[in-house]
Amino acid sequence: MDNFAIERVREYGAQIALVLGSGLSSLVQDPARDHVIPYSEIGGLPRSTVKGHIGRFLLDEIGGQRVVFAQGRVHLYEGHRASDVTAGIRFLARAGITKLILTNAAGSVNPDFAPGSWMMITDHLNLTGTTPLLGKAGFIDLTDAYSPAWRTRFAAAARAKNLRLHEGIYAGMLGPQYETPGEVKMLRHLGADAIGMSTVCETIQARALGLEVAGFSCLTNWAAGLNPQPLSHAEVLSAGKASSEALRLLLESAIDGTCSPLV
Ligand code: HPA
Repeated sequence: MDNFAIERVREYGAQIALVLGSGLSSLVQDPARDHVIPYSEIGGLPRSTVKGHIGRFLLDEIGGQRVVFAQGRVHLYEGHRASDVTAGIRFLARAGITKLILTNAAGSVNPDFAPGSWMMITDHLNLTGTTPLLGKAGFIDLTDAYSPAWRTRFAAAARAKNLRLHEGIYAGMLGPQYETPGEVKMLRHLGADAIGMSTVCETIQARALGLEVAGFSCLTNWAAGLNPQPLSHAEVLSAGKASSEALRLLLESAIDGTCSPLV
């Protein structure tokens, strides 16, 4: 992997990285040119083919703390292997990142979690059929994959800011097709609150490298069968854009540089 880019990010001195999901790119403004690192400049990082995913790291701040934003990710459904979709996480870990915030767009399967709101991920179901640890003796413990300490902190920040923040289980699917109503019913029975096509492999990779992980799902739609309207990718992107501001407020409050750094 590209040592020059690793050094650039390392020198920036951020501990936190934030991966932006579909439609959530507007969470970060365009920073100065020298704070942009296109994935194409980093050997070993695959590029996304999906609309709404740009593909670059941005060095910026949130709540007074330096953050590396990953704007755009690649997905298994594009034909990439689990080890490829997690190359960015390995890059960030080598560049000194110790805390990772993953965001995604997801369909809601919980009747109490309406589209337009955010869900903090408490746990996941990896239903992709693969893992970035394939071929390794990666017998890692995933009991607290999504940091309980962070969850407490984000829940408190949400209460303080009067922001609605659900908490629930994210089911990670292979995609790219959305689910059938029958599959959605099954996923609800399995305990899922939200369904998406990313995040689980990144969490597994990050935990294997010892990173602390938090995850947030932007609930962009009711999952199939819970609403008479058909699903569309355009709907997912525009709902993501509309919800970015709420997440920004939450993150600013939780990552506030005036209080202790995230622990
Ligand atoms: N299902 C799977 N992935 C998704 C959905 C969904 O309903 N919405 C956004 N990403």
